Amino acid sequence: MNVVMVGAGYVGLVSGACFAEFGANVTCIDKDNSRISALQAGRIPIYEPGLEDLVQRGVSSGRLSFSSALASAVAEADLVFIAVGTPTRRGDGHADLKYVYAAAAEIAEHLQGYTVIVDKSTVPVGTAREVRRIMRKTNPEADFDVASNPEFLREGSAITDFMRPDRVVIGVESERAESRLRELYRPLNLIEAPILATSLESAELIKYAANAFLATKISFINEMSHLCEKTGADVHAVARGMGLDGRIGKKFLHAGPGYGGSCFPKDTQALIRMAQEHGVSSRIVEAVVEVNASQKARMVAKIREALGGSEADKTIAVLGLTFKPETDDMRDAPALAILPALADKGAIIKAHDPQGMAEAKTLLPDSIQFSDNIESAVTGADAVVLLTEWNQYRGLDLARIKALMKDNIFVDLRNVYERDLMRKHGFNYTCVGR
Ligand SMILES: NC(=O)c1ccc[n+]([C@@H]2O[C@H](COP(=O)([O-])OP(=O)(O)OC[C@H]3O[C@@H](n4cnc5c(N)ncnc54)[C@H](O)[C@@H]3O)[C@@H](O)[C@H]2O)c1
Repeated sequence: MNVVMVGAGYVGLVSGACFAEFGANVTCIDKDNSRISALQAGRIPIYEPGLEDLVQRGVSSGRLSFSSALASAVAEADLVFIAVGTPTRRGDGHADLKYVYAAAAEIAEHLQGYTVIVDKSTVPVGTAREVRRIMRKTNPEADFDVASNPEFLREGSAITDFMRPDRVVIGVESERAESRLRELYRPLNLIEAPILATSLESAELIKYAANAFLATKISFINEMSHLCEKTGADVHAVARGMGLDGRIGKKFLHAGPGYGGSCFPKDTQALIRMAQEHGVSSRIVEAVVEVNASQKARMVAKIREALGGSEADKTIAVLGLTFKPETDDMRDAPALAILPALADKGAIIKAHDPQGMAEAKTLLPDSIQFSDNIESAVTGADAVVLLTEWNQYRGLDLARIKALMKDNIFVDLRNVYERDLMRKHGFNYTCVGR
């Protein structure tokens, strides 16, 4: 089966490499020529564990290739996936669909024979129909169906998520399209992954509803963490006590600095706008977004308080910049809200991240300093702020850190450490909700 991925970013590249592993012949196309040249030269433009090996395997099997030339690849394709970005539209919070629609028009020009065009990007309800309209207008003779196949992978564990999904959702309107998608995903039958066929509209909404629900769990526990701090309860115990209830579940109940990343912030916003457009209230999701913003502000206040009421002229070592570990993705990371707020009030910030520093340098104020290693970040610091729970920050040599610091303040925004241990090492320790 010939598959084309249009967009070779986090989703397009991972999905393309995984489809090649399933046995399909995959061409990943991107309009960013430098990205394609890097991939052709064997360099992976993003950090995702296991991706380099998978891509190498696909390329040497002859089933995975990269190209900037859409025309020939699309002409031979059985399925063309649209996996381009759908960022928040500047000014109004809607999903910006310009890349999706541009890709649709380009693809339409080159179709030959029956082809299924699949929206893998996260797109508001109605997009698949608009994609179909654009394609029909561009190429009235073409034989095609449009389907929706939202992606649920998580950065940092994207390959496992793709290879062992909880479910695959396919929104389809014809048996031909459904059977082609089922054929592509057939290797997942071995692990009995459910494939849920729905209407186009339901598939599109499932993705937003799922992300909004997960974001709700995070904002919920973050709100509880505030109440824990005021009442003397421990958010770890509360989350565990809640999560052991099978109806609630343990996942996404970790108090922290608020959700970030390339999906939850933009998808909750887009869902609110979609609801508004349809005259429907979305008070829960609105509250989720508000709580998330206030959680980030609360983290700034927490750091300030730990520093004795002012961050001015204090040196803060920040460990972790990406929105989660095991990715280099800085999109909407809490660091982008928290660090500028501290720097604005005169804090001297020395930051470290295992993968995110190159991108962070382009997004953070010039005053932020970057350290190549943990030791140089913490040397002479008044406070350490643990912002992303990378493995290398989970087992810090606490005695050494303490010895290198000027003062002893440790603000753990991921609740990685135990208070007693930190006290034993002489730290003045603050965390979230405990
Ligand atoms: N990143 C995730 O964890 C994740 C998970 C699930 C769903 N999604 C959704 O998947 C979609 C893609 O996200 P991403 O993180 O992979 O984005 P990304 O920004 O990493 O990649 C998008 C790529 O598409 C390319 N592109 C844009 N227009 C193009 C065109 N006309 N032709 C060829 N290439 C084009 C860009 O150059 C870029 O490399 C978004 O809708 C996102 O919401 C992302």
